[in-house]
Amino acid sequence: MQKNIIITGATDGIGLAAAKVIASKNYRIGLVGRNPEKGKIAIETIQSLTGNENLDFLQCDLSSVKNIKQLSDEIKSRYSKIDVLLNNAGGANKTKQITSEGLEKTFATNQMNYFVLSTELIDIISESNDGRIINVASNAHIGAEVDYENINSEKNFSAWTSYCVSKLMNIMLTYKMAAMQDKVCVNALHPGFVDTNIAGNEGNLIKYFVKFGAKLFARTVDNGADSSIYLSTSEDVKGVSGKYFFKCREISSSKASYVKDDWDRVWTLCQKYKDSIL
Ligand SMILES: NC(=O)c1ccc[n+]([C@@H]2O[C@H](COP(=O)([O-])OP(=O)(O)OC[C@H]3O[C@@H](n4cnc5c(N)ncnc54)[C@H](OP(=O)(O)O)[C@@H]3O)[C@@H](O)[C@H]2O)c1
Repeated sequence: MQKNIIITGATDGIGLAAAKVIASKNYRIGLVGRNPEKGKIAIETIQSLTGNENLDFLQCDLSSVKNIKQLSDEIKSRYSKIDVLLNNAGGANKTKQITSEGLEKTFATNQMNYFVLSTELIDIISESNDGRIINVASNAHIGAEVDYENINSEKNFSAWTSYCVSKLMNIMLTYKMAAMQDKVCVNALHPGFVDTNIAGNEGNLIKYFVKFGAKLFARTVDNGADSSIYLSTSEDVKGVSGKYFFKCREISSSKASYVKDDWDRVWTLCQKYKDSIL
């Protein structure tokens, strides 16, 4: 039977690479992105590669809680159930930007995005008998700690710290949601250092450095999508929940990511922001 999957950030990088492979299996895919031109190209490319006609482009700026709520409503109106939500869209902003909803943009795009979409869609994912949420995180979380007084860079801003903290929160969200759920499996992954556009919006020096390093050390984007595809589609991980993966194998995340009080604190603050914005 055909399954339905939503992939965010499916217009480029790891999300697009995952969508190409998943489309070759028996899945209807909702590809979420902010740029309709890139969405059109992604759909044409995937169709010509796989022949899969069951592809929908869903436009959304995932740095906005209100837009994510609209996206969730649209998904619920188009699909009777969702089998897999692959939360993948993310990035790093080189300067401090506060969204019109009052959130620091990296936190909004990387963490609030995953939280709001997952909590809005949990009921429809629960309709599947093999419901899965997969959160693309990063080993950049190692060494990071959440400063609850600086969630929106109230005290100071560092592009790298904001990114690393958002990825730590992705993992805490995964563990918390997995502990709350008995129906839907929730896992996180590190894709590796992957040669994508992720450094594209960084400053020149950082961009040059990352791109230079990428050519030497990075995984290809197809390899970087391996765990996303595995956790979304493999029977091997049916029923597995609350774990962190790299190269399709379970690994440990940082010590800080296992502190349950912080899972609760992160959950509560995301819920508070969501409630105050919607
Ligand atoms: N690349 C790495 O080395 C690496 C390492 C560890 C973790 N990761 C994680 O992997 C995930 C994917 O990153 P990537 O390397 O594939 O990056 P990428 O090539 O820049 O792709 C990111 C995707 O997310 C979309 N996106 C970004 N901000 C958005 C927004 N506000 N609203 C809607 N869509 C948005 C982008 O849309 P546009 O096409 O419109 O830009 C694009 O489709 C991220 O969560 C990242 O943190 C990457």
